[in-house]
Amino acid sequence: MTTTHDSDTSRSPQTRHRARDAFDGTRVAITGGTSGLGLALVRELLGRGATVAFVARTRDAVERVAAEDANSHGVVGDVSRKEDTHPIAMQILGALGGLDVLINGASDLGPTPLALLADTECEDFERALATNVLGPFRLTKALLGSLASSAREGSGAVVLNVSSDAAVSAYSRWGAYGVSKAALHHMSRIWHEEIAAEGIAVLSLDPEDMDTPMHAAAVPDADRSLLKRPEVAAREFADAIAAALPVRAAASELMATEFPG
Ligand SMILES: NC(=O)c1ccc[n+]([C@@H]2O[C@H](COP(=O)([O-])OP(=O)(O)OC[C@H]3O[C@@H](n4cnc5c(N)ncnc54)[C@H](OP(=O)(O)O)[C@@H]3O)[C@@H](O)[C@H]2O)c1
Repeated sequence: MTTTHDSDTSRSPQTRHRARDAFDGTRVAITGGTSGLGLALVRELLGRGATVAFVARTRDAVERVAAEDANSHGVVGDVSRKEDTHPIAMQILGALGGLDVLINGASDLGPTPLALLADTECEDFERALATNVLGPFRLTKALLGSLASSAREGSGAVVLNVSSDAAVSAYSRWGAYGVSKAALHHMSRIWHEEIAAEGIAVLSLDPEDMDTPMHAAAVPDADRSLLKRPEVAAREFADAIAAALPVRAAASELMATEFPG
């Protein structure tokens, strides 16, 4: 993604209008929708006209975010728990009536303070893998039929797995998280190879360092003024999703012609 760290206020009314129309009627599910990037994505995509179901574990936060917009539906669930997979999937489909876009954003950082692999408890390692790899695998599998159905109708479908530079760089003390993000990234690439021909694009995108609670837990002494705003990353991700959805991309292009900006 780009490295711009500008604020969300720079978008022109024409661009906002175009972006909104491109997502009208799009059904989106987002895991990790109550904080940081996930919350920014919920708000960005609702603002562009999508209907959104989002998932997180903390009921109060889910209810608070759901109350912000009548087009959003909160689901309380833990993506790391196998037994939560189908209840989460059923609630998403019940709320949206189908699915065009799945964003796997919920994530576990591993042990904090961040620890060397030799000092990482097996349980912490397992939890990072369960949240960051097995969770996205299970939920994608449970929702694949609905995504394929959208794709067959000609509007395309997208799975966006939220990656990290820790997926490709071997940072000391980021072992549990880095291993899990590397696996998620590679799983995304394989899945894309397998299902892109059916109209489902699987993206793996790194939002870059953002000013969020997760970043504060990982790097408590970071200079927050140097970090990207999650709203900026959410806008970039929404643009990437729109570009991967053929009908939405065409609508954006058409409107860009009608309203050159
Ligand atoms: N922040 C960064 O600098 C950065 C950089 C690169 C990549 N990323 C990636 O960007 C994504 C978002 O990160 P963030 O910094 O925005 O995180 P965040 O502010 O900590 O938010 C995490 C969200 O995920 C939910 N969540 C966590 N575990 C969950 C589980 N097991 N089941 C369901 N929901 C769960 C949390 O709510 P509950 O706790 O209530 O469940 C919360 O809504 C993650 O995939 C992260 O790895 C972040």
